[in-house]
Amino acid sequence: MKTRVGIEAIGVAVPRRYVDIEDLARARGVAPAKYTQGLGAREMAIAEPGEDTVALAAEAARRALDAANLDRANLGLLVVGTETGVDHSKPVASYVHGLLGLPRTMRVYDTQHACYGGTAGLMTALEWIGSGAAAGRSALVVCSDVARYGVATAGEPTQGAGSIAMVISQHPAILELDLGITGTSSTHVHDFWRPIGQREAQVDGHYSVECYLAALGSAYREWKTRAIARELVRGGGLASEALARICYHVPFCKMARKAHLHVRRCDLEDAGVPWDVAAEETRAAQRFEDQVQPSLPLCSRIGNVYTGSLYFGLAGLLDAQAAELAGKRIGLFSYGSGCTSEFFSGVVGAHAAERIAAARIADVLAVRERISIAEYERIMALSPASPLGEPPPAGGFRFAGVTDHRRQYVTG
Ligand code: HMG
Repeated sequence: MKTRVGIEAIGVAVPRRYVDIEDLARARGVAPAKYTQGLGAREMAIAEPGEDTVALAAEAARRALDAANLDRANLGLLVVGTETGVDHSKPVASYVHGLLGLPRTMRVYDTQHACYGGTAGLMTALEWIGSGAAAGRSALVVCSDVARYGVATAGEPTQGAGSIAMVISQHPAILELDLGITGTSSTHVHDFWRPIGQREAQVDGHYSVECYLAALGSAYREWKTRAIARELVRGGGLASEALARICYHVPFCKMARKAHLHVRRCDLEDAGVPWDVAAEETRAAQRFEDQVQPSLPLCSRIGNVYTGSLYFGLAGLLDAQAAELAGKRIGLFSYGSGCTSEFFSGVVGAHAAERIAAARIADVLAVRERISIAEYERIMALSPASPLGEPPPAGGFRFAGVTDHRRQYVTG
């Protein structure tokens, strides 16, 4: 019998503070519409040094495990996907393992490839369970990042921070993944990178958009070939129409619109229909509203979470529409600059609405505080070793400083 495998439970964590993107635009002398309509942004999460990648990951992971109501002794794998780790050697996963008191008998490590790192962890977990090697055990995959481009740069309005954790098991109550039916695309490009010792990313912004779209076209077409061969979707080219929704990696929300138009272009070309961009942009608007827009509101309130952005899109989509999507297939596209990428798919679970409700996403966002641009700039200038010393929320975690070269964390 085929092994069912996928996402059983989700937990999220975001920094306590955010800025309103229109405040940022005004402070930079930019028309607010450029950020709201041109990039599709609304709010941007701001992490203070105490809310580092570890603290956010541990909080999201604890919430996911609570939501799954899982016997922790049944966990066999913990992977943290991140590109903003806190040590050259000791992985974020090791801190999370210790902070949550997880079992000794587990594999525990980080995966890194820019924003694809979380998907690398997810694919490992799926294949570990699907192969039978897990022997009935479950995996915890966490995507955690603090995205920084720096004050007054073109990338500034596309920063963000947060963490999303997923319990992966043979009980995929939220999303059963189509194991082995994926398309991948990788090329060696310098679209976005962060040299050792630098806190802010280097980016060739417009080129990075081109790299993303080229990777998407190639990965999507490979997924389509496999999905048609396995009769998950019909042949004839227009495979994207068979997907109830598509979640894309969302560095900024407008990117998902560009991505969806590109997928449509691939489909039409494959079906032998000439590409008429002006006509298709108009036709694509409604398709975009139905198939993609519902995955964006949560992303627009947090900003880019690098490894987590695709999965925040998925969580936001299911939080809003899980009941109507039960039993339907959705597509997902993960892109990591540098670059590697993967298009894959899965079917929403019958009880996904109840399971995603356990993530209490609205409650997590509701306790945030809007800060001024002056306060945001003050936080950005803090040394990464200087946490504000605020107590963590109940059940949360904070980096508290370094003692004898060892990072210390406190829990609330
Ligand atoms: P920019 O050059 O400041 O912006 O940077 P622009 O001039 O290209 O304008 C952006 C959009 O706003 C344009 O729309 C304008 O027309 C529009 P588009 O042509 O793209 O449809 N616009 C307006 N709209 C309404 N009213 C107005 C107005 N003015 C202009 N008044 C850029 C934009 C995205 C390049 C920059 O923010 C950046 O460098 N961001 C970071 C890089 C990035 O996010 N890349 C995405 C692909 S790579 C990726 O996703 C991987 C990544 O997540 C990292 C990883 O893998 O780890 C980044």
